[in-house]
Parts: sequence; structure tokens; C-alpha cells
Amino acid sequence: SIARMTIDPQYQLAEVDPRLYGSFIEHLGRAVYGGIYDPSHPTADEFGFRHDVIELVRDLQVPIVRYPGGNFVSGYRWEDGVGPVESRPQQLDLAWRSLEPNRIGVNEFVAWARQANSDVMMAVNLGTRGIDEAKQLVEYCNHPGGSYWSDLRRSHGYQEPHRIQVWCLGNEMDGPWQIGHKTADEYGRIAEEAAKVMKWVDPTIELVACGSSGSKMATFPEWERIVLEHTYDHVEYISMHSYYGNRKNDLASYLAQSLDMDYFIRSVIAACDYVKAKKRSNKTVNISFDEWNVWFHSNEADKQVEPWQVGPPLLEDVYTFEDALVVGCLLITLLKHADRVKMACLAQLVNVIAPIMTENGGASWKQTIYYPFLHASRYGRGKVMHCSVQSPKYDCKEFTDVPLVETVAVWNQEMGELTVFAVNRSQDGGIELQCDIRGFDRASVIEHTVLVHSNLKAVNTKEHPHEVTPQPGQGARVDDGLLTVQLPKLSWNVVRLR
Ligand code: AHR
Repeated sequence: SIARMTIDPQYQLAEVDPRLYGSFIEHLGRAVYGGIYDPSHPTADEFGFRHDVIELVRDLQVPIVRYPGGNFVSGYRWEDGVGPVESRPQQLDLAWRSLEPNRIGVNEFVAWARQANSDVMMAVNLGTRGIDEAKQLVEYCNHPGGSYWSDLRRSHGYQEPHRIQVWCLGNEMDGPWQIGHKTADEYGRIAEEAAKVMKWVDPTIELVACGSSGSKMATFPEWERIVLEHTYDHVEYISMHSYYGNRKNDLASYLAQSLDMDYFIRSVIAACDYVKAKKRSNKTVNISFDEWNVWFHSNEADKQVEPWQVGPPLLEDVYTFEDALVVGCLLITLLKHADRVKMACLAQLVNVIAPIMTENGGASWKQTIYYPFLHASRYGRGKVMHCSVQSPKYDCKEFTDVPLVETVAVWNQEMGELTVFAVNRSQDGGIELQCDIRGFDRASVIEHTVLVHSNLKAVNTKEHPHEVTPQPGQGARVDDGLLTVQLPKLSWNVVRLR
């Protein structure tokens, strides 16, 4: 069968904010201890950071990393993680029933992010704490000096302010599992007051208010309306979180779950713009989709993990080939909303529901989902195009009218490249994508890369790290301004043109 698309240089949706390719490191499981930090590792530097991991992160070109949580942040005392390491307390982390040794804190993480060529997106604790601690953390990180908290930073060896630009006002405060869970009004009020004061300390920062933890939350979308009615004038973004999975082993429905992400984004945009209209505001609040991924493989195993360990093996999903297709669809969906989704964080980055896996003291390797993220981050920069797409469709248990081909194009004018990303959801066979690109003068194919595997459940492991890897595609060509490319059955495709 055939899918058709038209891309015209005149029809541009939006410039991609590079922060769409953000990620997330939480004090959770082996993300920090055993992941980015492992002083016993042969590649560790003087801070204990693993350089094999830093190399893999650099490769992904992640411009911003959210930190330190997640659910963890809602019980976190950031002061425990600064100053001389030997006098830092070991605390119970109630979010993940683990021990937090506080060997890594704000300053170390900023240093790590710098090495990984990333900025930090910092979250403050609005679960057990409030305005004062949030204000103090902004002062500690961003104020140049001459005040108690900024001088404390200097006394810890960091003369220059960290200049952290993006701050999250808590985490998932709508979730009953959250330490210090709040109603929308309770959260809206504290977020508004914390936001005001944080900006009085540093007026250059950008703030993210907590939105819903998923489209299935009972309080969605009233949560967004109420929170934004309180915070609208003080924040730049509202957050969205969403995780997907194939619990029922129903591939047709699983591959279609990006339609939920699409619906969720459209609904949050509507909520933002409703509050904008109600307030007669000129300002537009955008979206920070600061947790998204596939997460389900490890759910059962996590119930068996002994509590109160440092760096326990939690949320260690081993991703299959089919998960990579879903991640590809989710990336395309985020790109299709690049006019309003300005930041997004693949949750997470190392070991915990992550594209990068490590063995304590040993190997590191790329999971299947590493590849669609790598391709989107490398080639999905520039202008997202308004693409008109006609694809055959299917119905499944969870969705109707699911396009067999999920696709989007990004034009990088600086590099003179146009890139088409496409997932073929068909379980029946290959699909030919015919793409009218007449408006792009003399464009020709640079390369066609495909992620495809005969076994949907194939995974990359320490023993077989290259089981699922991208390969060159066959036969993509441009004739008279018409790009023709064969999308193999169940595949992720990247076609680069110049
Ligand atoms: O990313 C894992 C967890 O998922 C985060 O801690 C929390 O915010 C979300 O529920």
C-alpha cells in the first residue's frame, strides 16, 4: 500500500526548541549511584563520574537534564547534598524506599551536566517543603554572592553562580503517591507564591508549573485549569507526564498509544488557552513534557526489591524492538506539536527506564530506544513542517482511525537538510511513502536509515549489545521532486535529503 505526503518550504509549523530533546536523572535506583556516578569504574574521573556514560550522553546531544526528581524531590532536603561529602547525612528516601547517601548533590550534578554538554532543569520540593527552601535554593545556585546562601555556595568551592535557567515547581503534585500530594487549589497557591519569590531572587529564570501525571488522572483537566488560574502570570510552562506500555501484549493498540499523547497535548493546550482568554492575557503558556517514555517491563520485578538500599536496581526496563517503534511515534508526536511543546524530557537517561544501561563497575550499552531518540535529536532540529499526510488507517481495541504511517518532516535550513521521520505501524507489510517535495530545489537523498527486526521482542543486552541497531535502508530516491521510500513492515525510518 501507499501513503502520500506533501512538504512545502512555505508551510512551516515552528522552530524546534532544542530542549525538546531533554532527559532526566532522578535520585532513583541506579541512575545516579552506579549510573552516572561510580568511583570504582575504570573510566571514572576525580568526581567519580563514568566517562563511558558521559560519552553516550554526549552522543545523544541532550541539551537539558531534569534533576533531582521525580517523586524523590518531594521529600528532598537539597542542603543535605552540598558541602563536605564526609559530613553529608544518609537519609531515607520515602519515595523509592531507598537510602540516599547524598554523595551527589546540586553542585556535583551541575558539574556532570557541564561535561555532558547539558544544562540543568532543577526541580524544587513543594511536597514537604515550601517557599523558603525554594527561594534559598535559587539564591544558592544563581545569586552571584554577598548573601548567606550565595556565599555558602562560594564557600563550597563554586565562585561563579550556576545560572540555572529552568525550574520546576514541584513534581506530580496531583498524584496520591506523591509525598505532600495536594489538591489543585492547594498546589496552585503554593506554586504561585513560590514562583513569585523565586523570580524576585532571579528574574531571569523560567518556571514550570505541575500539570497532570497523565491523561487518565481523575483530576485532569480541571487540575490544569485551577493550577493555571493561580499561576498563569508567574510561569512560562505547564508540565505534562505520560508513560506507555504493552501490558496486554496487543501490538496494534500499543503502537497507537502516541494518539493518547497527541490527545493529551491538544487538551492541555486548550486548557492553557482557556485560562489565557479568561484572564484577558497576552501571554501564552507553553508545555514542558518533562516525563515521557515506555515504562512497564519492570513493574513486577520492582515489588521484589529489598527496601533501604543505596542504588537498588529499580525501574530497569529492558526495552524491546517494538518499544523503540513506540518511542519513535512519541517523538514524531512531540515534533508535530513543536509550536507549543517547547521542552520535553525522555524519562529517564541512565539505568532507570533509560536508553543507556550500565553494569556497576563494568560495561555500558545502548538500549533499543536509544536509536530513535538519537536520530530525532541529531536530525530533528530546525523547522518542523506542516505536512499534509494521507495514510491508510486501522482500528484497534483502544483507538480508531490510526494512521499506518506516522510521519513528520524537519527542515534544517542552516545545514541545508530536510529530514523525514516515519514509523510504519503495519503488521501486514511494507508501505511505500510518496512525498511531494517539489518546493525544495533539487533535493536528493543523503541516506535512509531503518530500525527493523524480525523479532518484536528483541532486546540489546550486555552480551548482545548490537542485536537491535539501525541499518541502511534500500532504494529511497527522488524523481522530479517526488521522494519515494519503502518503509518496511514495522519499522522506524529516517530519510535525510539535501
Ligand atoms: O520517572 C519515574 C517516576 O515517574 C518519577 O519519579 C515520577 O515523577 C513519575 O511518576
